[in-house]
Amino acid sequence: MHAYRGRRRGKEGHDDRRLGWRRWPVQQAWLGEDVAQCGFCQPGQIMQAAALLKSNRNPSDTDIDKIMNVCRCGTYCRIRKAIKRAASTM
Ligand code: FES
Repeated sequence: MHAYRGRRRGKEGHDDRRLGWRRWPVQQAWLGEDVAQCGFCQPGQIMQAAALLKSNRNPSDTDIDKIMNVCRCGTYCRIRKAIKRAASTM
């Protein structure tokens, strides 16, 4: 279990108002698609995804492949799904 999963609230874990913060769409999509495995690469993947979506709200698979970092766990398919999910909610 990932450390952050322990903080999930509700089915999607969208926000934790007790802590006074809400997750951004990319973070929500990451949890919704259950992207992370070991989590080592995930902060970089999420930041790259957020930067991509800031300039391109409808990225293609090719656009997404260009920004992905190496993931030893091979979460690439779930990363693509999460980015598209985030794009659909922004
Ligand atoms: S989730 Fe393990 S390296 Fe990406």
